[in-house]
Amino acid sequence: MTLSRSTIFLQKFVKERRTHYGLSKVSTVSDDELKSIVEEAVMHVPSPFNMQSGRAVILTGEASDKLWLNVVLPGYLKLVGGDENAINLNTTKITEYAAGYGTVMFFEDQAAIDSMAAKIPPMAQYFPSWSENSTGMLQFTIWTALASEGMGASLQHFGAYSEEISTNVLKEFNLPSTWKSTAMMPFGVATGGPGHASRPKTFEPIGERVRFIQ
Ligand SMILES: Cc1cc2nc3c(=O)[nH]c(=O)nc-3n(C[C@H](O)[C@H](O)[C@H](O)COP(=O)(O)O)c2cc1C
Repeated sequence: MTLSRSTIFLQKFVKERRTHYGLSKVSTVSDDELKSIVEEAVMHVPSPFNMQSGRAVILTGEASDKLWLNVVLPGYLKLVGGDENAINLNTTKITEYAAGYGTVMFFEDQAAIDSMAAKIPPMAQYFPSWSENSTGMLQFTIWTALASEGMGASLQHFGAYSEEISTNVLKEFNLPSTWKSTAMMPFGVATGGPGHASRPKTFEPIGERVRFIQ
């Protein structure tokens, strides 16, 4: 039986993308292919009025380690504090992200959003939420593409939690001050199954979530 293209897309690629926390320093694709995946996604994922406010940075090797261990870890511990137990738990969690092959950092360029909002004043109020929609589409596309190549990844938001982490990320990697961090995606060949073993993924009844009306 020949499967339809949408079945292949949904059953193979969309369904197989999962959150993976346990990552290794192995990539199934070359760095050139990695760059090409991210470039194609950034170029072709839609944005409101084609404003193209999405930005992405691929970190591998020492650069990815630096993000998690030198920028996110101290910034997050400072933000959440806690006792020795909490500090150890958060350190373990963030060290897991550093264990991956690399990280894709996602940003929205506030300058592009402001410029488009100024061009279309009646729509100006919608651009911030449309920009969030667009970065989500970009994150999903890259996450699914990495999964289709046999790599695990997760989605983290430390830049959004903390102004200080966000500022330090821009400083550390010499990025424009108008880039607003929207997510960080550590990736690499997974060392185990998806999600938390103790909490299998569950699904609400699909009939309550989708309606078909003629
Ligand atoms: C907008 C958004 C924000 C998320 N934020 C986080 C996060 O901060 N940390 C995390 O570990 N997972 C985060 N996730 C991943 C979800 O928890 C995960 O996708 C969901 O539980 C379904 O599991 P799956 O990815 O294995 O299908 C986020 C997902 C989305 C779509």
